[in-house]
Amino acid sequence: MAKPVTQFICSACGAVHKKWSGRCDACGDWNTITEEAPLSAGPGKTSLGAMKGKRIGLTDLRTQETPPPRRTSGMAELDRVLGGGLVPASATLVGGDPGIGKSTLLLQAAASFARAGAKVIYVSGEEATAQVRMRAQRLGLADSAVMLAAETNLRDILTTLEAETPDLAIIDSIQTMWLDTVEAAPGSVSQVRASAHELTSFAKRRGVAVMLVGHVTKEGQIAGPRVVEHMVDTVLYFEGERGHQFRILRSVKNRFGPADEIGVFEMTGMGLAEVTNPSALFLSDRETPAPGSVVFAGIEGTRPVLVEIQALVAPSSLSQPRRAVVGWDGGRLSMILAVLEARAGISFAGLDVYLNIAGGMRISEPAADLAVAAALLSAREDAAVPHDCVVFGEVSLSGALRPVSQAENRLKEAAKLGFSSAIAPAGCKLGADSGVRMQAMTDLPGFVGEIFGA
Ligand code: TYD
Ligand code: MG
Repeated sequence: MAKPVTQFICSACGAVHKKWSGRCDACGDWNTITEEAPLSAGPGKTSLGAMKGKRIGLTDLRTQETPPPRRTSGMAELDRVLGGGLVPASATLVGGDPGIGKSTLLLQAAASFARAGAKVIYVSGEEATAQVRMRAQRLGLADSAVMLAAETNLRDILTTLEAETPDLAIIDSIQTMWLDTVEAAPGSVSQVRASAHELTSFAKRRGVAVMLVGHVTKEGQIAGPRVVEHMVDTVLYFEGERGHQFRILRSVKNRFGPADEIGVFEMTGMGLAEVTNPSALFLSDRETPAPGSVVFAGIEGTRPVLVEIQALVAPSSLSQPRRAVVGWDGGRLSMILAVLEARAGISFAGLDVYLNIAGGMRISEPAADLAVAAALLSAREDAAVPHDCVVFGEVSLSGALRPVSQAENRLKEAAKLGFSSAIAPAGCKLGADSGVRMQAMTDLPGFVGEIFGA
């Protein structure tokens, strides 16, 4: 009989290696490779080629009954991120740093779905049922109709779920689950992958919506949910700064709705509260006109959000000045600095540059380029941008400004929050008058001249 070969698997990306090494070649992470036994064939596995496969024409599906509708929880922020509610027979992964509030969010979601008439089972592999109850009491949800279970053996969990067939099953967390057919410790890539596979196929087979919690650790010591991402239908990330009270639920993959949609929550002493007007919240503690502070009119998913971009520019004592960014892409900052230097003749050599997106928000839209450029210039020139002005637009390497999408929605949101002017690239599609005065710019040098009189 052939000797079973052990494998070395990267716990961050799931890549399989023949031998151990300190660094994973596939993802570049250090100390993430661990030794694991290969997946055992398991009982009942038959060879391929059996006559089980069945084909069906797309048009034949029309005659079948229509699928059950999405379930809404009544938590508007959650429903929006899910693309309008939870799809039956789907698997959703909710990832995030430990302690960010995933269990709190899902317990509140479980109670909301139960209140809306769904049969919900919450399986905790981390806390005893009494502890989950205690948390529920603290959240004011103690009399909710959610069923609880504290279990980590997936075989037992599946037996219970098969018997109960709930509408929604929440598994907190996938890293604590283990299958007795897999010879590896709970939390290892093999266990996480096999458990996620069992749960997603259960979801499809029985029409149950399954939500899985997955911890991500920066060190990659516990198998990251990244290996699970491609198995599930929807991937949500719950993010935020530990010191900040804001939490953002972001959809990074959604087979049934738009990706990049966000839901905003605030962590309070009574659990998570929904934030229906994030712009007002992100701008709530904005100081009086200050150099280096610019309001960016952004779009997150389908929703306009105004955020404050702060920059600080100071003489550097280092031979290589510091470039520090929080909430934006460091590479993009270097690009904006280079374009400012090459196209508008404004150099940041010998200056430390710090850039921060206020409120713990993270922005990935290229439309933030112009707002970042404005914040950098404002900090460098020590001149404030008008307090009632929002900025947006993409900057190209040539120094030209490119129009961005949904300009009209951005302006509407700005008007709603009391802004009266906007600086944006010429050529943005605008509809009816939003009440905000547009200053259209075509290139970066023109923008610099107009705003800072350089
Ligand atoms: P938790 O949901 O346990 O995080 P995760 O499941 O992602 O590991 O949240 C833990 C944090 O949330 C903890 O630091 C305390 C905070 N918290 C509140 O501030 N208010 C609350 O009502 C609750 C339940 C938790
Ligand atoms: Mg938890």
